[in-house]
Amino acid sequence: MPNRRPLHRQRDHVLYVEGGRPLVGRVCISGSKNASLPVMAASLLTAEPVRLSNVPEVADTDLMRDIIHTLGGRTRALSDGSMSIVARELKSQVPEHLGRRMRASIVLLGALLARTGSARLPKPGGDEIGARRVEQHIRGLRAMGADIHETRSDFVARARRLIGARVVFDLPTVTGTENIILAAVLAEGRTEIFNAAREPHVQDLARFLVKMGAQIHGIGTDELVIEGVPRLHGAEHRIIPDYLEAGTYAIAAAATGGEVLLECSPPEDLRQVLLKLDQAGVEIEIGEGEFAVRRHRRSALRPVDMGTWVHPGFPTDLQAQYLALMTQADGESVISEYLFENRYQHVPELMRMGARVKVEGRTCFVHGPSALSGTDVMVPDIRSGAALVIAALCARGVTELHHAWHVDRGYQDLVGKLGKNLRFLPRTHLPGCFSRRPQRLDHGPIRPGAAGPYGHNGLA
Ligand code: EPU
Repeated sequence: MPNRRPLHRQRDHVLYVEGGRPLVGRVCISGSKNASLPVMAASLLTAEPVRLSNVPEVADTDLMRDIIHTLGGRTRALSDGSMSIVARELKSQVPEHLGRRMRASIVLLGALLARTGSARLPKPGGDEIGARRVEQHIRGLRAMGADIHETRSDFVARARRLIGARVVFDLPTVTGTENIILAAVLAEGRTEIFNAAREPHVQDLARFLVKMGAQIHGIGTDELVIEGVPRLHGAEHRIIPDYLEAGTYAIAAAATGGEVLLECSPPEDLRQVLLKLDQAGVEIEIGEGEFAVRRHRRSALRPVDMGTWVHPGFPTDLQAQYLALMTQADGESVISEYLFENRYQHVPELMRMGARVKVEGRTCFVHGPSALSGTDVMVPDIRSGAALVIAALCARGVTELHHAWHVDRGYQDLVGKLGKNLRFLPRTHLPGCFSRRPQRLDHGPIRPGAAGPYGHNGLA
């Protein structure tokens, strides 16, 4: 009989979660995984040292560090918690056993081509959430003069000189935009990217490259203009907080009927998510670089339809968590996944716990509220894992999450954060939170720095 301590992780990657209590407390949000990975790749564009702080300790950043080592770069953990990366000499082949373990390794294609003039890395296969093609990356790099051919397992690329080009994406692609940016900063001449992805992590990469001496215009918009420069230099950078981690804990607080202060977490990037939570009857209070979420356990959660979209739309990486929340709402909600064709792997697992959900193509009909019960479930990917943790926290009894290692790929110390920081803290540990009645959130955009009813960044 396994040890069933709540939120205790076993060696075989089974996570045991005991549900039935609201999350109450405060939690500090870590750095963004999806910003750290391309920023680490960008660090290879110079022979000078780079210093990165707020890189989250998650399995995917560990893996990127291992890849950098095999390429000949050096990384060092510094005493203040930051990481230094130096890549004086660089090989251009990413070993299959490392590259294949993480799809984001594809961003090394643009970085290695720009720095070394060649790259060989394993092709990312289709995975659980969809086909996840990369033809737009390849088309863009070819337009810049790269000669790329595919073997059965690898991309093999060569470019004596990358030349600026006009790259038009059919659909904004996050790692595709990052790949073209990484190639363009050292290319000869001007590159224009139309219909670029503008997720906060894409912006963070661009801002880091500007610190290294790159010339990038239009950061935060869907049209980027990059003037290539002959070389880049070392820089220091603090990775942005992970708005997806913050969104996950915000949804968890709402689902369990709790009260959580999300520290180190500017709410601006979560605008769409917070507006949905507000419509569902969840109270949100905005502070400077932090925000709080509260729902009284006995106040009903309203069903609110949602469709995912590229930034600034509702992030696909929070769809599974939101669906778990809607299993607790009072009525039917319709959830549509427009970015990935197969991102409902969590649904059969939620149904095993008692959720009532019907999937029709890219749309889910969720009938709430459901009394969930703990049982054995299988974690199919990072975000589904987070959704199952949320469902487990709402459920009666203990849920066993198998293959919980997926969660470690994207959430730093989830067990410690939920266990120590969120559970069992008395409400008095939240000074200043919810001291005023929250107002409606439907009066306009979140404006950084604008004074609002709850402090510096009011939603109203
Ligand atoms: N697509 C194509 N062709 C391409 C590129 C993309 O058809 O050449 C399609 C994909 O199949 C998908 C859509 O475009 O349907 C969007 O894919 P995108 O390329 O934007 O996704 P990605 O770059 O592979 C990143 C994140 C994902 C996140 C998506 C969407 C990283 C390392 N990964 O993936 O994050 O879901 O953007 O925002 O940044 C996660 O963190 O759990 C995660 C999966």
